[in-house]
Amino acid sequence: MNLTLKIWRQENASAPGRFETYQARDVLPDMSFLEMLDVVNETIIARGADPIAFDSDCREGICGMCSLVINGIAHGGHRGTATCQLHMRHFKDGAVITIEPWRARAFPVIKDLVTDRSALDRVIQAGGFISVNTGGAPDGNAIPVPKESAEASMDAAACIGCGACVAVCKNASAMLFVAAKVSHLNLLPQGKIEKHHRVMSMVRQMDSEGFGNCSVTGSCEAVCPKEISLHFIAKMNRDYGVAMLKGPASLL
Ligand code: SF4
Ligand code: FES
Repeated sequence: MNLTLKIWRQENASAPGRFETYQARDVLPDMSFLEMLDVVNETIIARGADPIAFDSDCREGICGMCSLVINGIAHGGHRGTATCQLHMRHFKDGAVITIEPWRARAFPVIKDLVTDRSALDRVIQAGGFISVNTGGAPDGNAIPVPKESAEASMDAAACIGCGACVAVCKNASAMLFVAAKVSHLNLLPQGKIEKHHRVMSMVRQMDSEGFGNCSVTGSCEAVCPKEISLHFIAKMNRDYGVAMLKGPASLL
């Protein structure tokens, strides 16, 4: 396959960015999207130019490092698929592909296609943990967890923190990410003790990072590589409402 790539190049957060056009020659259908970019970078390096900066790590859809808005859709628009799992067989020979970084005020560009997603880490630091002493590894049956709670918690815990939900949202809202992280702990007995404090603290941090509000368009759920459900946003809103009614006591 031969492809034309229109790739966003930007020196840093304050420099103006622009699209540059590259030709990708002899791309194999079984290559992953990131392998294809590696091949393009080899040709750029061979002529002594600056290679395209992009994030990648596990290439198995589990670490949350990869990003890229491909043809206008975060992670390229294949259901339940992160950029690192996207293969070139999904594109047609001769296609023109646009590649951009995540675009959100809270995710400033570091270089080219790499953005700073540490705002999500700070949301986790605000409450995505359990501070009660749970002791050593307990017997599997010592803390009974209802099957529905365990399964819902595991569904929420599947969030890999990639930020695609923010990148696709017209409001750059991080609600799906925060809802997943709040819910996976709030659903478990060990996490219930701090649930009100957790939801208040994480939502407050989310707001202070400059993420927008949720208007329930559902685009986040559609592009999420882990198919995190919008139901978690409804659950977080309920937890938040209860915490608000409890007042300052919930922030103790
Ligand atoms: S909710 Fe989905 S899209 Fe958002 S950060 Fe988690 S895995 Fe990524
Ligand atoms: S590189 Fe790890 S999820 Fe894509």
